[in-house]
Amino acid sequence: MNNLLEMFAQRTFERNTNTKVRIAFKGSHVVQFRSETYVSTCDKRTRFADELSPTSREGRAANRSTAFIRRRSTVGEMDEAEEARGSTAVPAALGPRRFLVTGGARGLGAAIVKRLAETGASGLILDRAVDPSESYAWPTVAVDVTNETALRETIQADIEKNGPFNGLVAAAGIVPEWHDPVNIDLEMLNRTLAVNLTGFVATMKYVVPTMPRGSTIVAIGSLNSWRGDPNLLAYAASKHAVLGAVRSAALSLGPRGIRVNAVAPGPVATEALLSRIESRGEVTGLSQAEALRASEKLTALGALATPDDISNAVIFLSGSQSAAITGQLLAIDGGLL
Ligand SMILES: NC(=O)c1ccc[n+]([C@@H]2O[C@H](COP(=O)([O-])OP(=O)(O)OC[C@H]3O[C@@H](n4cnc5c(N)ncnc54)[C@H](O)[C@@H]3O)[C@@H](O)[C@H]2O)c1
Repeated sequence: MNNLLEMFAQRTFERNTNTKVRIAFKGSHVVQFRSETYVSTCDKRTRFADELSPTSREGRAANRSTAFIRRRSTVGEMDEAEEARGSTAVPAALGPRRFLVTGGARGLGAAIVKRLAETGASGLILDRAVDPSESYAWPTVAVDVTNETALRETIQADIEKNGPFNGLVAAAGIVPEWHDPVNIDLEMLNRTLAVNLTGFVATMKYVVPTMPRGSTIVAIGSLNSWRGDPNLLAYAASKHAVLGAVRSAALSLGPRGIRVNAVAPGPVATEALLSRIESRGEVTGLSQAEALRASEKLTALGALATPDDISNAVIFLSGSQSAAITGQLLAIDGGLL
């Protein structure tokens, strides 16, 4: 590990100071430091200093770089192969990580599984509705996330067989029919909370105990994690609650090196959204195309986010490029401001 740290400390220091360095460590401190300072990047005349004291200006800067790298490498999940390649610029390099994706059989969850698999990650999909004729990227088990016993048994059996997960993406979710605070069906409210909130928390409950440092959790929240909706009280309440769970879990799990974040998609034209638009047509008087155009017009970019946009944000929040980000809700909505 020390060789890798040396390499990273050197690279960070060189990038920041335009100085070529050789650093030797004892424990976590610089004991030997050679530098060649470029007078300018074009003109490679150098000033050469040998064995600078660790208390010199350069020595102190190198120690700071090293401390920074140490912090990042315990909080982030940079695996040693990735560090050795120095490929921090490639967000897709999730490599041999293992993810659990709930709701991964369809819609946004399925798009996220596809992108994760493209990055080399393996994993398990849990979904209430599994189509046996479909070929999924990863093994897929039919489980309802509100059935705690089935959820626990499935997760624990998979961990025993294949090892711990170091990534969780909680995409299982439902959107109820339109309602208001007077005509609301309280069973529907409880069901919405049970899937969107309790299902997410229950999944964390059984995945987290074996998660190694550097693991990540990403929940699919919604714009309704911070905005109300006159027709979707139950949904907005459940997605606000998801954000509360994300922030609280981020605080509890941060010291264990596990990051917890959420994405907030704006409207994304998944099958589920299109069929909701269709069924609301009687009330809104809008065709599917008109309703989508109306939503697009509300965005700064004049376009809705796509499943790929959401997947890219999940990859970012699951990768080392977001190593200092936890407890956050990232809006991916084309700018619904
Ligand atoms: N599509 C959008 O516009 C949009 C916007 C904001 C947030 N979201 C959120 O993204 C997530 C996915 O939405 P989508 O549009 O892809 O919907 P979707 O219906 O296509 O996908 C949801 C998946 O979750 C599964 N699921 C539902 N209840 C489950 C349960 N109890 N146990 C296990 N699996 C269950 C479904 O079978 C389905 O495969 C949801 O949490 C949704 O609230 C979607």
